[in-house]
Amino acid sequence: MNLEDTIYKRQSIRSYDATPLDNETLDEIRDFIDNAKELNPNIKWSYEILSTENISTMMRWKAPHYIAIFSDEKENFYQNIGFIFQQVDLFLQSKGIGSCWIGMGSPKNYKNPDDSQKFIIIISVGKPKGNLYREIDQFRRKSLDDISDKRDERLTPALLHNLHLQHPIPNHGISPTMMTAAMTYTELRAECLEAGFMENGIR
Ligand SMILES: Cc1cc2nc3c(=O)[nH]c(=O)nc-3n(C[C@H](O)[C@H](O)[C@H](O)COP(=O)(O)O)c2cc1C
Repeated sequence: MNLEDTIYKRQSIRSYDATPLDNETLDEIRDFIDNAKELNPNIKWSYEILSTENISTMMRWKAPHYIAIFSDEKENFYQNIGFIFQQVDLFLQSKGIGSCWIGMGSPKNYKNPDDSQKFIIIISVGKPKGNLYREIDQFRRKSLDDISDKRDERLTPALLHNLHLQHPIPNHGISPTMMTAAMTYTELRAECLEAGFMENGIR
């Protein structure tokens, strides 16, 4: 599955097979991280894939691996890390590997070689015990209206996707707030078709 298709299926995984991933897979993950796109290439960051013994979390569950992430504290450094590692999250899930960002955790008995960098977050990684993917009807999402009052054309595909989930064609009546936030549903569809956004998740 490619990264874009994965957006519509991925979910955080909190139940893992304890068996570690093989070295070849871990190297593939490192290779992807090393080549992921950065939001701001001027911010130095680093990571290490640690095992369970080197992690302390508040979670009741454990994963065989955790990516511990560090960064220089420059403007937008959190956004930079989010931008890079959300690609990694999609990559992992596209390969059948589960992951979950964990704010409530940190490395234990591990010191980053560059101690000027701040510890940011860990991400658990491993083969999932249950289903890796979420079916489309299992998504529970707030509407974009609830989380943003900004009109941003980059959100159009997500808005359209949301509209479709709420009002599948052919009965796609949309609420007055949605109408003011966007355009008409038909206009949105036309815009997205033209931009080539219609192949994934949006019918
Ligand atoms: C910055 C960040 C920190 C998070 N911290 C935790 C955490 O400590 N524990 C946890 O179970 N999930 C954590 N999550 C995962 C979110 O709970 C999860 O992404 C959210 O519920 C949406 O679910 P989904 O990823 O399955 O779509 C975190 C997510 C982010 C982006």
